[in-house]
This record gives sequence, C-alpha cells and structure tokens, in this order.
Amino acid sequence: MKKIFFLALLLLSECAQAQILPRPVSVTNAEGEFTLTPQTKLMVDDQGAFTQEVFTLQEAIQAKIGAFLATGHGGSNVLTIKKNIVPNASANAYKLAITPQQISLEASTTEGVFYGVQSLKQLLDTEGVSIKAKTIVDYPAYGWRGLMLDVSRHFYPFEYLKQQIELLAYYKMNRLHLHLTDDEGWRIEIKSLPELTQKSAYRDFDRHDSAVIRRTAQDKRIALDPRFLQEHNGKVRYGGFYTQEEIKDLVKFAEKHHVELVPEIDMPGHMMAAILAYPELCSTGKPSWGSVFSQPLCPAKEEVFTFATKVLDEIIQMFPSKYVHIGADEVDKTTWKASDLCQQLMKKENLKDENALQSWFVERVSNYLKAAGKEVVVWDDALEGGISKDINVMYWRDWKATIPFESVAAGHETIFCPGTPLYFSRRDSASYDIYHLRSFQELTVQNKNLIKGAQANVWAEQIGNSNWANLLIWPRMLALAELTWTPFEQRNWEDFKRRAALQRTYLQGVGIDLAKESPFLTVVQQTDMANKGIRFHFEHEKINPQLFYTLDGTEPTANSKPFTDNLLVKKPSTLKVGILENGEILQPVFTRPVEFHKGVGLKVKYLQPWHKNYPAAGEVSLTNGQQGDDYYKDVNWQGFTNDLEVIIDLEKTTGYKEISMRFMQICNEDVLIPGYVEISVSDDGEHFRKHATIQNDVDPKQLGLIYKVFKTSLKGAKGRYLKVLAKNVHPEQFIFTDEILLR
Ligand code: ACM
Repeated sequence: MKKIFFLALLLLSECAQAQILPRPVSVTNAEGEFTLTPQTKLMVDDQGAFTQEVFTLQEAIQAKIGAFLATGHGGSNVLTIKKNIVPNASANAYKLAITPQQISLEASTTEGVFYGVQSLKQLLDTEGVSIKAKTIVDYPAYGWRGLMLDVSRHFYPFEYLKQQIELLAYYKMNRLHLHLTDDEGWRIEIKSLPELTQKSAYRDFDRHDSAVIRRTAQDKRIALDPRFLQEHNGKVRYGGFYTQEEIKDLVKFAEKHHVELVPEIDMPGHMMAAILAYPELCSTGKPSWGSVFSQPLCPAKEEVFTFATKVLDEIIQMFPSKYVHIGADEVDKTTWKASDLCQQLMKKENLKDENALQSWFVERVSNYLKAAGKEVVVWDDALEGGISKDINVMYWRDWKATIPFESVAAGHETIFCPGTPLYFSRRDSASYDIYHLRSFQELTVQNKNLIKGAQANVWAEQIGNSNWANLLIWPRMLALAELTWTPFEQRNWEDFKRRAALQRTYLQGVGIDLAKESPFLTVVQQTDMANKGIRFHFEHEKINPQLFYTLDGTEPTANSKPFTDNLLVKKPSTLKVGILENGEILQPVFTRPVEFHKGVGLKVKYLQPWHKNYPAAGEVSLTNGQQGDDYYKDVNWQGFTNDLEVIIDLEKTTGYKEISMRFMQICNEDVLIPGYVEISVSDDGEHFRKHATIQNDVDPKQLGLIYKVFKTSLKGAKGRYLKVLAKNVHPEQFIFTDEILLR
C-alpha cells in the first residue's frame, strides 16, 4: 500500500514538471493540449521591443512545421507574445501559459522573452507540435551561467564557437568566456601589433602536442585537429587565430542568442606567446621559464603598459561585453625579484613584496579598463596581494577551500569555477558532483548578492579537437545549467536525470556523439553503523546504468557480479565498478581501495570542532573506513585549526591491538603535522588515564607532501573509551587527518 502511494506521488511529481532543462521555477499543469499548425496565428504586442526574439521563435517554428507563422488577431489557435511584467519574479522572468486555444508568452525584457522562446523550443523538441497545457513562470537564480574555452593551448574552429553559443542559449546559459591568449598561442588578431599572430599564433609542436600525440595511440578521441597543422620549412606547425572580422560576426551571433562573449587576455603571466614576439616586454628581455610558469611581463617597463593598452583598446572595440578578463593567475615572480627596475618601482610605490607588485599591475590595467566603462574579472590568485573591491573574482583553486569565503568577505563579486568539479577538461568531474556543489550553495545562502554564478572551464592542453571538447562539455553542462538557473529548493536529482536523458538524445541529434563519452560514476559511501561495514552506492546521470563489480582488484566484466542498488563491504578490499554498455565495460572503471579495520562504524565524540570548511564526512569521518587521496581538498581529509580531540566508544574493552592515524604536511599551504598525539583510556568516558604520547619528528619547514603516521600498541590499554588528542602547535594553521585505524 505504502509502495503504491509512493509510486503515485512519484508519477504526480513527474507530471508536474515540464520536459525542460534547466528545470523551471514553477510549472502548473492543466487539461488538454495546444497543437501548433501552419494556420496558427502569431500576435505580437511588444512595442517593437522583441523583434529579434520573435524572429528566433519563427525560425524554431519553421524548423518544426516548415513555415513562419502569419501574424493576425483572434481565432482559436494563436501564439501571443506580449511585453508585460511577470509578477513576483526577477527582471529576466518569462511566463509561458499554454491552453488548448493559445500559447501566451509574456516577459518585460528581451532576455526574458528569449528564455521563454528557449523553453518553447525545448517543449517542441521533446513533446512535438502538440504541447500539453500548462503554465510556466520562470527566471534565473544566478546572473552568470557560463563556459570558458581555452583556445590557446589547442585551437578550435570558428564554427565551433557558434555551435557552443547555440547550445549555451538552448540551456539558458549566458556567458562564453574565451581564453584567447596563453604561453602556447596568441589567437586573436590585433591590428596594431601584427607580430602577435604572425609569430605566435603558430608553433612547432610543444610538450602538450607531443603528449596528445602519444595518448592518441590509446585514445583516438583526443587527436589533434588536422585542420590546424601546416607544413612550414619542412616542419609541421600547429596553430590558428580568429580575425577581427570573425569576431565581429561572432559578437552578432552571440547577441542574437543572449550570450555575452567575455574576452580574456591573461597577464602579466601566461604571456609567453606575446613575449616571443616582443621579448623586450619581460624583465630579462629574453623569454624563459621559471620552475613551473613562464616569465611574466615586466610591470616596471612603461612599454608593457603601451602594449597592454594597445591590445585592450582593440579588444574593447571588438567585444561589447561589460566584462574584460585580465587573468592574473599563476605568475612566477622570480625575475621581478632579480630585476633592478622592479625593485626600484616597488620602493617608489611603497610595495612590500612581489605580490603587491602584481596587485599594482592589476590595478593599473584595471583602472584603464574601468575608465573605458568596463568591469574587470581576474582569477583568484590576484587576491594574494589585495585588489579593489569592484574587481570580479573567479574562484578556481579548489585546494584552497577558503578562497570564495575570503573573496566574498573582501567584497568581491565572485564567480564559481573550482577545479573540482567545474574544470570540465578533467575527465573525473561527474554530473552528480556538479549538481550538488556544496560550497556554492552554502555561500549563496550566506551572501547571495556577491555570488554572481558559476561557469565550467575547459583547459585545452589535452584536448586536441573540438569533438572531444564537446564530449567533455555537454553531458555535464546539463548539470551546471540547472545548478545556475534553478533555485536550490527546485532542484531534484532524480527528476534531473529523467530530463537529462531527453537532452542526451537532443545532443546526439545535433551531432555530439555521446556513445564515445567516458561517463564517470560518483560514489556515495556511508558507514553502516548497525552492520559495522561500509556501504557503497553509485550515482550517474544515466537512469539505471548497468553496473558490474569486483572486490579483489580484478577488472570487472559482463560476467562479474551485477551491482544492485548498494553493496556492504566488511573486509579489506579493492572495489572496482564499471558501467556495461553494448556488451562492453566503459572506461574509466571506478577503483577504490577499502581500508577496512576494526574501528569501522564506531561512534566518535568531538571535544573540539573540525574547521567549518573541511568537515569531510562530519562525525563519522574518522571511523568510516575511508582514507583520503594525496590532497587535503579530497573530501576525506578533516581539517582543524584547533586541536583534534575526540573520544571513541569501543563498545567493548578488549580485542584491539593497535591504533594508528596519519597527518599530512604541505607547509607552504599552511598544512602542518601536530606536535604530538596522545592516547588515553577510560572505563566511563569521563575519567581518562594517559596511555601513550607519540611525538612529531617532521620539520615544519620541510617542503613537499609529507605524511606522518602516529602509531602505538594498545597492549595494556583496557577500557571502553579511547581519547585521541592531536596537539596543533601552530595556531592559525591546519592539521588534517583522514581516519583512525584500529586493529
Ligand atoms: C587557472 O586554471 N590557471 C585559472
């Protein structure tokens, strides 16, 4: 009975939602349906405001029924478009009311009516020309809903950019950020500096090309696009760039689709392409590499500002966007340290270090752009030396989870694109994780006005062609579209999957070959306290994917055990899970070592709190059998700025031989090992006897990733309760651990 009720509820809630992605704010179903025919009349009452959007709608209708609709009044089969404020909604809202006699679309802005047109297009694509009666009121949760393409590392055809704009618009996304320049190639024509493209839009094969060529042997999907290879003096060169004529055309196309093209000229670092053409722009006068990044522009040379303003003048002329992105990420400042000019400038301007010099440069360029009426966007690295409040910040460094909080606290409008899960160039960003991006939600609740939205970033080092880029982008973009458009309360993963399945069919129809995708599973792991085991469940945007698994580390095949809803693991294992499709297990296969030990499932009481930004799995974190990977950003590492002090209820007094736990040190990121770990025992959980103290012996200044395991025998430690105290001797800095292992 209960089951039937639940089923009915499920059907009801499914019916109440239209087949639209991103999910609309509100949908109310009604009786009957409207059928669009060549006789349907179009009635526009917009004071001429929506001419272009009406044309877009007519094009969509023509694609369905072979003709534009005739305009006219009255009748029992009309489509009306009206300029009207949608009550109780934000500015770019639309209302789409469908009855058997009429489709009525109302909005007060061009964006609003455009989004209504996109919803109508999706309904025509998913339901056909007969659309069920319903009323939709809808508007975006966030103003910035974007995609960034890196066209420097590998270049993509001009037509590809148009395809991206069309798809973004179809999912009501509104920013295409173009990373036009980087060390590996200058991709935009600058008429006053022709050598930028003459010399630096083309390159001999570099390390990324070699890596792509090598990896293409195993995976043909990533191959270099042969259209950008040329013979030059007996050598193959790679490259290309967009002309100003093309950009003009692209801007018009983007405007029609209500997508803002945001140009990025990354400076002062990531400038090798420009420095190869104009070596005098760097401090040493000779292009070079630091330990990781290229030598940046020299902020102490006036010709650098002449260069930057020439480039930006033309960028401003080409791109009407309100925003110009000036990068400011990953700057190797060693040549600034060694440069007399830089040091003199720092003295003169009273700049305390090279970070402050970087900020000085960013401010000077930003002031130029602001005077031209633009808003400036930078990567979050620029926060290090402090920047003006009115500069917009893109949060990308996911290993510094505090960045978005700091950015907002400093008053910056902030755009989310943390590497995990929003770098779509990474194969392992999974739709489920995008859809449930926790920090985005948290910060929005705390500070809605400063969170502008989110975007996916696609870095092209390992993406040799645009078809492969599409496979990485579009299945996952569905989740991001909904994350940025639909209010939190309206988002629903199960309902999303149903609508995403329809959109996957649509994407196949427009040429995105999803059969070649590498779907990535998201694991949901829980400690089963009652059964003292670890329970695994997997999420994927496919509905009921066929999963097979092994526990002994061998590769799963179609003959392995089928994985039904969840699996309880109660011994040390290596879990491997694969999706079966067309008789084959898809790559990559999910692999996880399960560190099972006697403490799994035991209750832990915290006497001092974990840091709010690094909760890991909360109070089950240290006994959930889950160890972290090599970085504290991994969700299994729990962080503390105070001591770690916990009591474990062993539930019995015997049977435990040894306790161990590890801490991580990455000292240049303020992650250090505790001074000591002290183990005490108690019979009642209140009165403790000290059992052992284990001292740290790692130098807090030692660089690199270091683990320290604190381990002691539990011989003679009889008692039902164990207290673990890890002393943080560097207040303000972090200690991180992932599991307390009991054997
Ligand atoms: C970045 O990934 N360097 C912004």
